[in-house]
Amino acid sequence: MNYVVVDTYEELSKKASGIIAAQVIMKPDCVLGLATGSTPLGAYKYLAEMCAAGELDFSEVTSVNLDEYAGLDGSHEQSYRYFMDTNLFSKINIDRNKTFVPSGIASDLAHEGEEYDKLIEGLGGIDLQLLGIGVDGHIGFNEPDRVFIAQTHPVNLDESTIDANARFFSSRDDVPRAAITMGMKSIMQAKKILLIANGQNKKAILEKAFSGPVDPMVPASILQLHPDVTVIFSEN
Ligand code: PGA
Repeated sequence: MNYVVVDTYEELSKKASGIIAAQVIMKPDCVLGLATGSTPLGAYKYLAEMCAAGELDFSEVTSVNLDEYAGLDGSHEQSYRYFMDTNLFSKINIDRNKTFVPSGIASDLAHEGEEYDKLIEGLGGIDLQLLGIGVDGHIGFNEPDRVFIAQTHPVNLDESTIDANARFFSSRDDVPRAAITMGMKSIMQAKKILLIANGQNKKAILEKAFSGPVDPMVPASILQLHPDVTVIFSEN
């Protein structure tokens, strides 16, 4: 594992965008696994700038996102589809028909998960998966559990995740209690993984995830088994 500690969020964002840009330049028709949350925003801003400057071409790229809230459709401002459209897809020349986010409003989320896994398999898997990490160690919305769950699946969110995400909603009560998330198999089969974490509140969980045992109660710890992981951490 390549564990990089930087001093500032700007540096983190520049490094992360550089890695994603290199992936797109080396394989223009690559499959990017993308993440939401506050941490990737800086990297997305830099990617948009590179694209606007004509330095980066997303026209052949396909993207698959990690997760979506249950019950929110893409027009809801807190949905992850809306987040991606607003913060990245509308600012780069990606073909919107080649951007995928699991549907949170499918009547059968388990079936939606099966279809999502088939879609990723049909694309030939993910070339580069971008991840954040939750304070409870989640990646995507794979929450602490007794076992790692391989397939894309519906999930009930942890109280700590609801707390952490309440800042994006008008009240904690508005945060959906459930979601659909890519499972560990599609994540672990990605050729490369880039995990970004920012802030002092992520320090302890990073330590647990990457120096402790591989344990489904610390979902990100499974990444210890992946051959090509880069972690970029900025405490500030
Ligand atoms: P954050 O979320 O980037 O907003 O800290 C990370 C996550 O929950 O995966």
